[in-house]
Amino acid sequence: MKQRSLYIKTFGCQMNKRDSEIIEQLLFPCGFLPAAEMEAADLVILNTCSIRAKAEQKVFSLLGQIKQWKLSRPEMRVAVTGCVAQQEGEKIFRRMPHVDLVVGTQQIYRIPELIRQLDAGETSGRLAVDLDKKFTIPPYQALSPAPHEFKKFITIMQGCDNYCSYCVVPATRGRETSRPLADILDEANLLVAQGVREITLLGQNVNSYGKTNPVAETPVDFAALLHKVAAIDGLERLRFTTSNPKDLSDELIRCFTEINILCPHFHLPVQSGSDRVLARMNRKYTVAGYLEKVEKLLDCRPDIALSTDIIVGFPGESEQDFEGTMKLLDTVRYHGSFSFKYSDRPGTRSASFDNKVDEKVKSERLNRFQKRQNEISLARNKEYVNTTLDIMVEGMADPQLFQGRSTTNHIVHFPPPAGGKLQEGDTIRVHIQHAGRHSLTGTAAEEEI
Ligand code: SAH
Ligand code: SF4
Ligand code: F3S
Repeated sequence: MKQRSLYIKTFGCQMNKRDSEIIEQLLFPCGFLPAAEMEAADLVILNTCSIRAKAEQKVFSLLGQIKQWKLSRPEMRVAVTGCVAQQEGEKIFRRMPHVDLVVGTQQIYRIPELIRQLDAGETSGRLAVDLDKKFTIPPYQALSPAPHEFKKFITIMQGCDNYCSYCVVPATRGRETSRPLADILDEANLLVAQGVREITLLGQNVNSYGKTNPVAETPVDFAALLHKVAAIDGLERLRFTTSNPKDLSDELIRCFTEINILCPHFHLPVQSGSDRVLARMNRKYTVAGYLEKVEKLLDCRPDIALSTDIIVGFPGESEQDFEGTMKLLDTVRYHGSFSFKYSDRPGTRSASFDNKVDEKVKSERLNRFQKRQNEISLARNKEYVNTTLDIMVEGMADPQLFQGRSTTNHIVHFPPPAGGKLQEGDTIRVHIQHAGRHSLTGTAAEEEI
């Protein structure tokens, strides 16, 4: 078989990163091997994100660059996959005629067949953007073996039915669909057998696993799924992302006491600290309801580290609304957060809302929020000084320093322990001596675990 080189550039979220891995694995048996550089690749795939206008602009500016390369190497093939592909479809060919293939979020398993059609000389400009109601990721066994890695993501759901008024995801990823339990467990078992020690279960709203569009073979809810995955012998750490607070159940909260390998870190996107804004965002919870759930989580697991997502400058957000977000930040004192300026997205309800907030005001609010978050992150990190944490080794930060991660998802640096040989994926106890804003530093404690 003719060998060719493949370069996948991934934008956006973990879901897209996992899809890129799957695409790479699907193309491996067709003779595609990873290329070192995009410019020299036989096939370039842009796996795209459309969550904010800027993310989409990045894709089109890179496509403009690729056009230049393709002038000198016309045999180069270019595919666009992911959320921009789903959203724009056919329009991409009109705007960027050098693109050969546009494949939507639920059609990635068709990529090998579509490439074969191109190879056979069938016309360029092939489009596959249907959205299905069934779970479309192929069973893991059908894919070639993954390279050895110690932590992996497993997609457990696709799509989203929540229709937050600002969000493109329900349009770009389709209806919420839970993956059959047996497929998830098969994939998890295989990964652990291959040496994976940490698994993160992935979905836009994992809390509603098994509830919407349940497939017949999925009689369990998310808490039960966590218990089943956690029971796999050899798995050391279990995480999940992301959760809509409205669906955070008591059963799930209880998992943090019942499952000892479930890591005490919870990413719980709140978006705003104003009930008025939350209602217009269609989030279906209030600030008080959110705080009640946070309190329950902390009662259950006092050492849990919380993180969140925030949108500033949602249409109609007043100074007082924004103060509510600042107040919430000071109440919860998140260990970390991702904060964004509101961006109008095609087809979303909020794109047609009045009272758009001025760009300058958005920037000013974002700065205020991030400045306060930075202070809180530093103060939170300092709470770990003089404690000892279990750290899973991820690699070297520099030739003298190991880098690893705590169960709470903090990055930790430490010098090589005397006499001990450490490999990626090993766990070691580290005594924390210093806290910065982005990481903790310490030394290996006496006994290894
Ligand atoms: N499913 C996840 C979020 C996925 S999108 C959840 O519900 O929590 C990741 C984040 O991008 C969102 O949490 C939100 O903060 C941000 N985001 C989504 N749409 C946006 C928009 N139109 N403008 C700005 N930020 C947006
Ligand atoms: Fe978007 Fe809301 Fe669904 Fe998250 S829950 S993906 S923000 S619609
Ligand atoms: Fe972006 Fe699509 Fe993920 S819009 S955030 S790549 S689901």
